[in-house]
Parts: sequence; C-alpha cells; structure tokens
Amino acid sequence: MKFGTIGTVGAGSAAQAVAAHAVRAGHRVLLSNSRGPESLCAIADDLGPGASAATFEQAVDADVVLLAVPFGQVPTVGRRLGNWTGRVVLDLTNQFAESNPYRGYADVAPLTGSEWVEQRLPGVTLIKAFNAMFARLMAADPRHAEGTQVVFYAGDDETAKLAFAHMVTGVSFAPVDLGRLREGGALMQLGGPLSGKYFLLQQ
Ligand SMILES: NC(=O)c1ccc[n+]([C@@H]2O[C@H](COP(=O)([O-])OP(=O)(O)OC[C@H]3O[C@@H](n4cnc5c(N)ncnc54)[C@H](OP(=O)(O)O)[C@@H]3O)[C@@H](O)[C@H]2O)c1
Repeated sequence: MKFGTIGTVGAGSAAQAVAAHAVRAGHRVLLSNSRGPESLCAIADDLGPGASAATFEQAVDADVVLLAVPFGQVPTVGRRLGNWTGRVVLDLTNQFAESNPYRGYADVAPLTGSEWVEQRLPGVTLIKAFNAMFARLMAADPRHAEGTQVVFYAGDDETAKLAFAHMVTGVSFAPVDLGRLREGGALMQLGGPLSGKYFLLQQ
C-alpha cells in the first residue's frame, strides 16, 4: 500500500495545511468540499501545480482521503458514498458539537470520536491523525533546530498505518503510533490528554 495521491473531503484550514506539505513533497492532491470544484480553484492554484480542485467522487478515489469536515457533517459525507470498503481515510475531525465557530463537545461515548466516524463510513479503513494540533502549527515547517514536529496517529489496520507513517515521514513530520482507534483515539481526541499539544521528536 502506498499513499501517492491524496484526496480531501473538506478543504478548509486543516486540509490545506496538510495539503501544502503534501504538494511540496511531490504528492498529487485533489481537493473537494460541499460547494464543488469551482469554489476551490483559487485555493488549488495557491497550493501549486500538484493540487487540483476536484469533485467528491474524484477525491474519494485517491489512494488516501483526508476527512476534514465539521464533526456534525460526517454522517452526510458517509452517506454520499454508502460503501467505503477499500478506502483509507485519515480522520482529522474533532468532535465539536457545533461549527462556525467550533465549540461544545459531541459526546459519543462509549465510542471514541474516531470509532463513531468509522461507523458512519461503512467498510472504511480509518486512521485518526493530524487532529490534535492547530492548523496554523500544522502549516508551519515541522523541522526545527531542536527536533521534528510529531504527528500522533491511531488505527486498527497495520498495513495502512505503515503506509501512513511512510507518507508522514516523507512530508517531514515525525509519526508517533498511539495504537488502536479505541486507546490511541481516546488520547488524541478533543478533551484527551494529547489534544492541542505540540510535541517535538528530539534528534
Ligand atoms: N482548524 C484547525 O486548527 C483544526 C486542526 C485539526 C483538526 N481540525 C478539524 O478538522 C475539521 C475541519 O476543520 P477546519 O478548521 O479545516 O474547518 P473549516 O476551515 O471550517 O473547513 C471545513 C471544510 O469542510 C467542508 N465541508 C463542510 N461540510 C461538508 C460536506 N458535507 N461535504 C464536503 N465538505 C464539507 C467545507 O466546505 P464548504 O465550505 O464547501 O461547505 C470546508 O472546506 C474539523 O473537524 C476540525 O475540528 C481543525
């Protein structure tokens, strides 16, 4: 498994931050949102020649899909495809009860947020990643004199996690595996001890 092309569902601050690193590292990035490709041409142009505005259908056909929509929109996104078997999705969402502005907490216990997302995308292979840091910190160069910025991730599929770690290393972050969606997801999700924290891997 190799994550060459990257699709995005949602193309706001979080998706753009990851997309910019991916484009610089030579990935092809297909950006999608709810309003359609015409609304994304300027953002794709800003990101550079590796990025293009796409439809939802094109974005979810990429090797890996960044899910970067408000938490409350996840069921809508899930229903657009129905069957997500064979797709690897990176779940960037945080379980805010409301968006615009993001606030409150959508309690989906006993599930972790990412287990709840996984259930709304039937058949998906899900990795939770990139949610724990602010987009403006995600967008910055992850390489520092003191070390490399950490990206925590969690998931239940080891093959997909290996491909993810390879991709993340290629875009100059330091991947740190927190285990399965249940335990690792709980550490990273909104309100978890690693949410909103900034870590460097010392070198
Ligand atoms: N900003 C951060 O610092 C940050 C960091 C890590 C994780 N996150 C999480 O990442 C997610 C996105 O955050 P953001 O800050 O990037 O939000 P944002 O700037 O508000 O962007 C949201 C994006 O989602 C799209 N969208 C909304 N509903 C959709 C649907 N049904 N189908 C397809 N696209 C849809 C929007 O497109 P339209 O405008 O066309 O609807 C927009 O491109 C949230 O869950 C957030 O908690 C945010």
